[in-house]
Amino acid sequence: MTLWPRTLLWRSVLLIAALLVVAHLSWLQIFRASEIEPRALQAAQQVVSVVNLTRAALVTAEPSRRFALLDELAQREGIQVYAGDPTDVAPPLPDRPFLRIMERRLQQDLGSQTRLAVEREGVKGVWVSFRIDNEEFWVSLPRSRIERNTSLRWIGWGALVLMLAVVGAFLIVARINRPLRELTRAAEQLGRGATPPRITETGPVEIRTLAQAFNNMAADIQRQDEERALLLAGVSHDLRTPLARIRLALEMLDDHGAADLKTGVAQDIGDIDAAIGQFLDFARPIDAETVIADADLNALVQGVVERYKRHGKKVQFTAMPLPQLALRTQALQRLLTNLIDNALRHGGDSVDIRTGLEGKTACIEVLDRGPGIPEADAERMLQPFTRMDNARSTSGTGLGLAIVERIARLHGGTVKLLPRAGGGLRARVELPSVM
Ligand SMILES: Nc1ncnc2c1ncn2[C@@H]1O[C@H](COP(=O)(O)OP(=O)(O)O)[C@@H](O)[C@H]1O
Ligand SMILES: [Mg+2]
Repeated sequence: MTLWPRTLLWRSVLLIAALLVVAHLSWLQIFRASEIEPRALQAAQQVVSVVNLTRAALVTAEPSRRFALLDELAQREGIQVYAGDPTDVAPPLPDRPFLRIMERRLQQDLGSQTRLAVEREGVKGVWVSFRIDNEEFWVSLPRSRIERNTSLRWIGWGALVLMLAVVGAFLIVARINRPLRELTRAAEQLGRGATPPRITETGPVEIRTLAQAFNNMAADIQRQDEERALLLAGVSHDLRTPLARIRLALEMLDDHGAADLKTGVAQDIGDIDAAIGQFLDFARPIDAETVIADADLNALVQGVVERYKRHGKKVQFTAMPLPQLALRTQALQRLLTNLIDNALRHGGDSVDIRTGLEGKTACIEVLDRGPGIPEADAERMLQPFTRMDNARSTSGTGLGLAIVERIARLHGGTVKLLPRAGGGLRARVELPSVM
């Protein structure tokens, strides 16, 4: 699993958030770096005053009152003064620019022998040495007197501002993303062969242009579909009516001893009629049919199977429990008839049909014991007007599997032409059960 989100929305929000964090941190770093010197000098000045005042007080106080004075400084100001031990070595100053600058300034103002320490005899604080005559003293100030108490509150406010900025970024990106989402959904519908509703042509000029282009394209496709359907409906009507008349005339005709010829012609007429039917089915704008939200696929298959059985075909159906599906039932019947016709025509005289559910995918399988379709040709056979060489002797248009594929795709599903174990074809249609 990767943490990198898949959607444009969350990718953009994440990138903006990262950018904000980096910008914030760098800004903070710059601010702190440029602020160190003035802050150190200011702190040094405060310490200098404290040291000078303490020293002056000690020097001028009567020796008998010195003790009381030191006590008072400690009580009221948190300032403690200790006599230095000449042998004692203060721990070295940590190498921080702030402290270095401060020490330099202290030595300038209080004399070069002045020492600065942040710890002495285990006690943390700001320790500064000074001299009265030749004796060394250490004065200790609480850290809070020179260092600002920053961190936690700063971090809290910073995090809050950052959070608000990310929320703002989310709102902005979501706004840009909305028309794109609509477009994506429409493109998906178009990809399934359905007619998407017009998408709104508003927003920034790029998005608007994209929406317009998409709408034009979808309208073009729909117009072409309609024209094609109209053309084919016209053609088939103009062919079917005279064909019906020929058939009728043929039946009334005396065969004059050429009964075979008559049967052959009747057969041809039947083939032409079936081919016209296939052309019609292929050209039909299949998404015109309304979707039935709670269709029972098993009952639908059963109905089709009964019809074949009435005509004396050997078709067995094994049904497994299926959820209700959103289907175009007439289209599904056409899909099934095409697969069963293929199995009977190209495969043999016995057909098995199975339904089943795998996860959220409902599937129908139509199986036969014929020659099957080699794996290499399976994809190609789904294209219109393609047939295997060994099918040339049978009548047919090569449109059946293309019709099947179109109907499956319209339902968000797929068609697979697989080899059946033990020989034959296993035509498998998978339909998602949540659409
Ligand atoms: N059940 C099957 N067994 C073997 N080959 C098949 C089967 N179904 C289809 N085919 C092959 O796929 C080709 C395309 O099928 P289809 O599109 O239905 O066209 P048609 O049935 O009109 O020939 C067929 O011509 C045939 O060669
Ligand atoms: Mg066919």
